[in-house]
Amino acid sequence: MPKYLVTGAAGFIGRSIAAALLKRGQTVRGIDNFITGKRANLAGLEAMEFLEADLADPDACRHACAGVEIVFHEAALASVPRSVADPASTNRNCVDATLNLLLAAREAGVRRLVYAGSSSAYGDAPTLPKHEEMSPNPISPYAVAKLAGEHYMRAFTRVYGLETVVLRYFNVFGPYQDPTSHYSGVLAVFCRKMLAGEQPTIFGDGEQSRDFTYIDNVVEGNLLAAAAPAEKVAGQMMNLATGARITLNQTFAILCELTGYRGQPAYAAPRSGDIRHSLADIRRAQDLLGYRPAVDFREGLRRTVEWCRATPGPPSVAPP
Ligand code: UD1
Repeated sequence: MPKYLVTGAAGFIGRSIAAALLKRGQTVRGIDNFITGKRANLAGLEAMEFLEADLADPDACRHACAGVEIVFHEAALASVPRSVADPASTNRNCVDATLNLLLAAREAGVRRLVYAGSSSAYGDAPTLPKHEEMSPNPISPYAVAKLAGEHYMRAFTRVYGLETVVLRYFNVFGPYQDPTSHYSGVLAVFCRKMLAGEQPTIFGDGEQSRDFTYIDNVVEGNLLAAAAPAEKVAGQMMNLATGARITLNQTFAILCELTGYRGQPAYAAPRSGDIRHSLADIRRAQDLLGYRPAVDFREGLRRTVEWCRATPGPPSVAPP
């Protein structure tokens, strides 16, 4: 029986966690319904037991959790604009799926579940950096759905003793992130487009900022969260980020250097549901997990561009 279950194992973050576990010689089961996950992302994960199934199906959750000790729950429809266009799907794939998974985990005797939370929970509160004591202020259906999952985590620790740990991710990027959807993360889209000599589109004036976090830092944070003593982390929520922010305009300039792109960006109307600035206080993850972001933004971006160059992928799509 595998020790670990990774949900969303064919997605960007899930496949990266699964790969790190396999590299450490661990036994892993992965589950994905391929709504946003990609079969191509399973390349290199052949040692993982894989289930093609949907977490909105309680039986699939039971099957996935059987015999497992630790779950990394990365499956979601991870997009603010997608949730604005179709909030019911986001609810089904984030909230229903999470509750089903928790119920199955409890029934199967899973010891710990590490949950992919989202910085979107902070909404557009002007305070920077965002720290965990702040009241949540979700402003998109996606943020509501991810936050509901956080509350379920804490409740399952309190009432059933299942060890849950919530990691609030801040704009994760890196190799394997999907550039092909209208809902793709901005850096995946920009890297592919600019390498192909295509003009990227900045929504708004480009002065919005993000705490972009390289995938290796997120994987490391997850492994630390799985290993930390229960008395320190069970029922806890913490930011997982770099702890620095950069504007989209500055990011575009760095990408010009890294990709050789010579043009200007196009500017379009700001996106509905967008927040202006995002920056994490990462002291809680430092205190509770000993987390330190080993890869800074620029180095992460360099590695991502190199990976895109070396990995011919599908072309990116134009924004809607
Ligand atoms: C949000 C959440 C993040 C979540 C992610 C999932 C916040 C602060 N972060 O990220 O936790 O995991 O959703 O999708 O709420 N943009 C362009 N051009 C493009 C694409 C995007 O200018 O082609 C802009 C967007 O308008 C936005 C910024 O880039 O201002 C970042 O967008 P995106 O990568 O989609 O992530 P967030 O919405 O910030």
